[in-house]
Amino acid sequence: MEFRKAKEKDIFQILEIIKSNNPKYAKQMALMEIQEMFSKSLCKPIYIVAEEKKKIIAFGGFNSSWLDNAIFNVFWVNVNPKYRRGGVGSMLICDLIKRIKETKDVKAKMILISTKTPSFYKHLGFRQITLRYDNEYILMSLNL
Ligand SMILES: CC(C)(COP(=O)(O)OP(=O)(O)OC[C@H]1O[C@@H](n2cnc3c(N)ncnc32)[C@H](O)[C@@H]1OP(=O)(O)O)[C@@H](O)C(=O)NCCC(=O)NCCS
Repeated sequence: MEFRKAKEKDIFQILEIIKSNNPKYAKQMALMEIQEMFSKSLCKPIYIVAEEKKKIIAFGGFNSSWLDNAIFNVFWVNVNPKYRRGGVGSMLICDLIKRIKETKDVKAKMILISTKTPSFYKHLGFRQITLRYDNEYILMSLNL
């Protein structure tokens, strides 16, 4: 399995994973969020994909916050349902953390995530900041 930056040609496979994991999420909105990586936006997200035998099996994104560019948001962490509970999600988060730490021009201080699966992140060292941050989502952080 290889972790690498997403390419425009990966968008279709990324959207298929989003569709199976988040069937209620507006497809057009998801498409715009992924396409943002290939835009000229100042606060562009970077999406990383996990590829196995030329198939995208997981992906996740990050960008640095407008408020403090040493704080990074991690989002859209999704593993294809067929590949779950095999360690792919954990390896993906470790890869994202490594890339965030290697970001040029800024010394990353903290990662923030908002999640419905806090136990997945707890086992990776994140701690809970708020309960019911946004409906059923919980805000968590990791100090770097
Ligand atoms: C959450 C998710 C990314 C985990 O990916 P994964 O590849 O299955 O995770 P791992 O195999 O690395 O899991 C490592 C540990 O995290 C915990 N964990 C993983 N998924 C979990 C879940 N859905 N609920 C609770 N704990 C979970 C378990 O302790 C697991 O260890 P175990 O399998 O030995 O019990 C994946 O289930 C997913 O894509 N879910 C749908 C989208 C989502 O909820 N994304 C996260 C929100 S940002």
